[in-house]
Amino acid sequence: LASTEVDLSAVEVGQAITVMWRGKPVFIRHRTEEEIASAADVDMAELRDPQTDAERVQKPEWLIAVGVCTHLGCIPSGQNLGDKRGDWGGWFCPCHGSAYDTSGRIRKGPAPFNLPVPPYAFTDDTNIVIG
Ligand code: FES
Repeated sequence: LASTEVDLSAVEVGQAITVMWRGKPVFIRHRTEEEIASAADVDMAELRDPQTDAERVQKPEWLIAVGVCTHLGCIPSGQNLGDKRGDWGGWFCPCHGSAYDTSGRIRKGPAPFNLPVPPYAFTDDTNIVIG
């Protein structure tokens, strides 16, 4: 399928789901106020792949990113509550220790780039189409 429709209405604040799009996992996290604030409060000079959080989201509460580590392609952990999320509270790649923040930006470890944001559009308040 070229595009994937996702109903976000059952995803509570603080929860995340993984959907498949073109054979790849896409992480969708319903961010908490704290996660949104920490994603926004970043000095661009600290970032390896500088992007503001506003450039990466359409609505601050929803972070949507391809869940494939940009180092060598492992699936980072952090989708479930209680998973290891690394020092920046986003995702942690167990293969070689890359840590991503709550905007999916690379903060530590060998991965060169942020988790990519796929093309997507909201079709109403709680539905999106990816692709
Ligand atoms: Fe993720 Fe190497 S594949 S750190």
